[in-house]
Amino acid sequence: MITTKFTETFGVDHPVVQGGMQWVGRAELVAGVANAGALGFITALTQPTPADLADEIARCRELTDKPFGVNLTILPTINPPPYDEYRRVIVDSGIKIVETAGSNPAPHLPMFHDNGIEVLHKCTSVRHAVKAQSLGVDGISIDGFECAGHPGEDDIPGLVLIPAAAEKIDIPMIASGGFADGRGLVAALALGADGINMGSRFMCTVESAIHQNVKEAIVAGSELDTALIFRPLRNTARVASNAVSRDVVDILDKGGRFEDVKDLVAGVRGVKVFELGDLDAGIWSVGTAMGLINDIPTVGELVARIVAEAEGLITGRLARMVGSDEDERVLA
Ligand SMILES: Cc1cc2nc3c(=O)[nH]c(=O)nc-3n(C[C@H](O)[C@H](O)[C@H](O)COP(=O)(O)O)c2cc1C
Repeated sequence: MITTKFTETFGVDHPVVQGGMQWVGRAELVAGVANAGALGFITALTQPTPADLADEIARCRELTDKPFGVNLTILPTINPPPYDEYRRVIVDSGIKIVETAGSNPAPHLPMFHDNGIEVLHKCTSVRHAVKAQSLGVDGISIDGFECAGHPGEDDIPGLVLIPAAAEKIDIPMIASGGFADGRGLVAALALGADGINMGSRFMCTVESAIHQNVKEAIVAGSELDTALIFRPLRNTARVASNAVSRDVVDILDKGGRFEDVKDLVAGVRGVKVFELGDLDAGIWSVGTAMGLINDIPTVGELVARIVAEAEGLITGRLARMVGSDEDERVLA
């Protein structure tokens, strides 16, 4: 067992989190993560309506009696989803942990806290982490440049971002972006985090309800196979490098506007990748951790393996490096 401030505050066995993932964060995966003793989040906005979210939470409860949470991604869109209704469903369903991301969580905090819900806020810069801490969130998930989805515009990888944030954050903090195995977990702990959050790695598991072609593409892919779209629009997203994402980069680099790529990046196309397994149907998120993902295990196997590998590293190779007797030391 690895016990940290995070496992104690959020009441889970292992310091491992499955963050919200549009089209991927559904009941089977989240329940698998919960049953493995880690913390999973159902992605609220994957459900077309608040009523569908209530059904998905109920479905997840049938699959596990362990705690799990809901991710609420707050996007600055022209036609925002009915956030207050999604929030009401989260509260009424008895959820006790929410992952917020995408924007300032302040408007959502009073209602969550009044109902005994802990909020884990995911952000991509030290200044946003500090701001969220001052607003009273219960934990921070600090997401480095390696990550799938939105890495922000500062381009600071975890090796610097995590310790820089750790110096300013007193509440439990987990590290996110580029984690896939026990080595990453140990590194995150060494850098000052209390655990790790993973998206891409959990996407590529038996329980993740996406097409097998996508999982196999992740296994076949390397750390070089992602693309950063929307850079000129300052709304960067890390996605798989494919025909569509390369087109989007090209059009925007040549001075195109969002309207020129709107159809290419539409969610209706992206969801086809996950449902039909057509890898060039649209854009789909995945991170550089792809270079570390070589199999499609069950979630239970994955979490157990990560924790065992981390424990083995801490008590084995690393401990031997600091042995007091020169004979005990092993050159690693
Ligand atoms: C397919 C996919 C969809 C994602 N959708 C969301 C989302 O809707 N909201 C969110 O907060 N994060 C989203 N993320 C980001 C993950 O929660 C997590 O922060 C990220 O994957 C961490 O980086 P990693 O992929 O290197 O582990 C998504 C990630 C993936 C892979």
